[in-house]
Amino acid sequence: METRSQWGTRAGFILAAVGSAVGLGNIWRFPSVAYENGGGAFFIPYLFALLTAGIPLLIMEFTIGHKYRGSAPLSFSRMNKKAEWLGWWGALVAFVISTYYSVIIAWAMSYSIFSFNLSWGSDTEGFLFSNYLNLTDPGQTGNFVPGVLVPLIIVWVLVLGILFKGVKKGIEIANRIFIPLLIVLFLIIVVRALTLPGAIDGLNAFFQPDFNSIMSSDVWVAAYGQIFFSLSIAFAIMIAYSSYLPKKSDITNNAFIVGFGNSSFELLAGIGVFAILGFMAGQAGVGIDEVVAGGVGLAFVVFPQIINELPALNGLFGFLFFASLVLAGLSSLISICEAYISALVDKFKISRSKAVLLGGGLSALVSLLYATQGGLNFLDAVDYFINQFGVAFVGLIEVVMVAWILRKMKTLQEHANGISDIRLGAWWNISLGVITPIVLGYMMFDLFKLNLL
Ligand code: PFF
Ligand code: NA
Repeated sequence: METRSQWGTRAGFILAAVGSAVGLGNIWRFPSVAYENGGGAFFIPYLFALLTAGIPLLIMEFTIGHKYRGSAPLSFSRMNKKAEWLGWWGALVAFVISTYYSVIIAWAMSYSIFSFNLSWGSDTEGFLFSNYLNLTDPGQTGNFVPGVLVPLIIVWVLVLGILFKGVKKGIEIANRIFIPLLIVLFLIIVVRALTLPGAIDGLNAFFQPDFNSIMSSDVWVAAYGQIFFSLSIAFAIMIAYSSYLPKKSDITNNAFIVGFGNSSFELLAGIGVFAILGFMAGQAGVGIDEVVAGGVGLAFVVFPQIINELPALNGLFGFLFFASLVLAGLSSLISICEAYISALVDKFKISRSKAVLLGGGLSALVSLLYATQGGLNFLDAVDYFINQFGVAFVGLIEVVMVAWILRKMKTLQEHANGISDIRLGAWWNISLGVITPIVLGYMMFDLFKLNLL
């Protein structure tokens, strides 16, 4: 039997795991979620969710991958024959995410080039939908949009090329380059943002605590949702990544580094984004509320507008911003694909190259659908579905299975404690066995109520 690939260094693993975690979710999701859910007060439920769900689950997934030494389906089947499907479910969600995450990276790639001469003009919304995505002519639905198709092909060639090279020579090296570079670019952006007039008003708005809001369950649900998506938990990714760790690895410690690293980046993004929004609001003479946005609207409509308004070096700033999105996105996309590629290798005993071609190739083909006119609507629908039913649901089933049905907490705890400086005790058991299932269960209940009534 072929021996399992391994990371070259501990830093390599940590960078890859941070690379998976730090993504579009940190840059365009966190700032608006925090703002809309209590501002400064959001940090209370957010930290609670990080400490009772985020880090405990990260430790659990790292331990599962490390102990059972397999991709998610293989690891779960080694834990208990009847649990293999849990790994496949996560891998399937990862597959679906990879089909559209790749498209957004392709847009960011185009926009990093558009930055140089501010090609989007003054009507940035019209530019995105009519010129770039070509959505105006409904009769033409189905035609490829070349502006999206070309960067999308570049994204896939890059990502599949890296995955082809393997864990140490591909994934690890890519993250060793992408993540430090991303941090540098992003720090430049934040410093620039903070020196703009109006930045302080943006920060005040962002950190202004609304303590009443944390009495509302929606805010807690938002905090848990953000933590799950942001840490790439329950998508079969972290299990696969930790299966490549050497025998002696302090996984508990690694989980803390990854968890806090991701949240630090998220906080940094919140500061940068709101400093810029403060500048924008000042320029337009409106309140922050009028300019706050998240997701596609923030990155591809509001940001280009702000870039237009900058007093100097607009093109460079735009390039740095969109290049950061590309780097953050690529390192996450690599991990999303590795989740199912490793599963194919383990299950069908095929070579990595074959699995990359099969799994990654299929995802690339599906992603072409979104590069057609009308593809955006399709993307929106899939993203909504994944966020509503994918994230929390898989996480809930995972903790309930491991803690209550298979009763594996003790086994995992002993494994982790055998190799870690940090000892797992009651905090870990109560978080995963009680708090997380209750909160996620409530989230699901709320969701079904919302969708059925
Ligand atoms: N954690 C990434 C982010 O915050 O953008 C996104 C992500 C990566 C989500 C991988 C899901 C996933 F499977
Ligand atoms: Na993240």
